Amino acid sequence: PTGELRDRLARPLRDLRISITDRCNFRCVYCMPKEVFDKDYQYLPHSSLLTFEEITRLARQFVAHGVEKIRLTGGEPLLRKNIERLIEMLTALRTVDGKPLDLTLTTNGSLLARKAKSLKAAGLQRVTVSLDALDDATFRAMNDVDFAVADVLEGIEAAHDAGLGPIKVNMVVKAGTNEQEILPMARHFHGTPHILRFIEFMDVGASNGWNMKDVIPSAEIVRRIHAELPLVQVDPNYTGETAARWRYADGGGEVGVISSVTQAFCRDCTRARLSTEGKLYTCLFATQGHDLRALLRDGHSDEELAAAVGALWQARGDRYSELRTINTDGLSGSAARKVEMSYIGG
Ligand code: GTP
Ligand code: 5AD
Ligand code: SF4
Ligand code: SF4
Repeated sequence: PTGELRDRLARPLRDLRISITDRCNFRCVYCMPKEVFDKDYQYLPHSSLLTFEEITRLARQFVAHGVEKIRLTGGEPLLRKNIERLIEMLTALRTVDGKPLDLTLTTNGSLLARKAKSLKAAGLQRVTVSLDALDDATFRAMNDVDFAVADVLEGIEAAHDAGLGPIKVNMVVKAGTNEQEILPMARHFHGTPHILRFIEFMDVGASNGWNMKDVIPSAEIVRRIHAELPLVQVDPNYTGETAARWRYADGGGEVGVISSVTQAFCRDCTRARLSTEGKLYTCLFATQGHDLRALLRDGHSDEELAAAVGALWQARGDRYSELRTINTDGLSGSAARKVEMSYIGG
């Protein structure tokens, strides 16, 4: 174990986000638009998915290099069968300092009411739930599968009751689509233990039709909330945290803003992403992954796997958000296609 591994910008490896399925039961307009993700869309075949044993074995190599947090993502991670078993396997891992990992997942909440207890029992520590509106019609239009707000709220409460809190609630803000929901969402979660976080709409993937005009800058979001519910800035929980934290001056809890467009946080980015089929991506906006599954299935040893992970991290120079130009489709000129959010899990 090195623990001292650094990339080209001197950033250590601390977080591993593991996508465990590329499928989702939602069709959020900004992530899996129906025109692209239709019934003919080719999802990964079962044989190309990493098994739980393979995921755990790879995760162990990342942990040996300093990873302290593992987040399961998708698509929708709760669609993966027997996810509880994977969680049990991952809870056995220990950081280089011998501590338990921070083990969490990001979910759309649709299956949470049903699964909260079993996830907790398997060893999951907390969850982050996506919810883009409190108004039912707006939310149904955004998830595009007619899923009701009430069911997600029920999932959040179930997760809280099961001991998976404090729950973080992620709201992607898209101008003209759900910006009118900023205040209702803030009011709803004000005074609860849940932490609402507003995310600037990002130019991930190649199919969400991103345009800078659709972005409401975090500073503007904070201004709108502050005008009604005064906010005070709070220090980050850890270096490289995605969200800038604010607390309500009246003691009504905390909110956050994730400004990957207007205030890039690449400088402290310690995140690696592992795709469902075992490719390592060193940036959310990468166009290419590195095939670790091939190494696994070719019978390489743990030492060789760990060395491969270390070498890939040392070669990493990604800082896409910092370099992003205000380019309407984020793609023009370059032939390469960025990976989809539903494939790499945000
Ligand atoms: P915690 O701090 O542990 O709560 O998690 P997190 O904020 O890292 O994870 P979460 O899945 O809740 O991510 C929130 C939002 O931030 C999502 O929209 C992510 O896509 C975005 N995000 C997370 N990591 C990165 C990153 O490295 N780069 C960019 N540009 N966006 C990120
Ligand atoms: N921009 C910002 N956030 C996004 N997410 C999905 N697509 C985008 C996008 N284009 C969010 C999800 C989830 C998190 C993992 O990423 O809503 O909360
Ligand atoms: Fe599914 Fe999450 Fe993408 Fe929505 S944002 S389509 S819930 S993976
Ligand atoms: Fe990290 Fe890439 Fe996001 Fe920058 S754009 S914070 S390097 S994942």
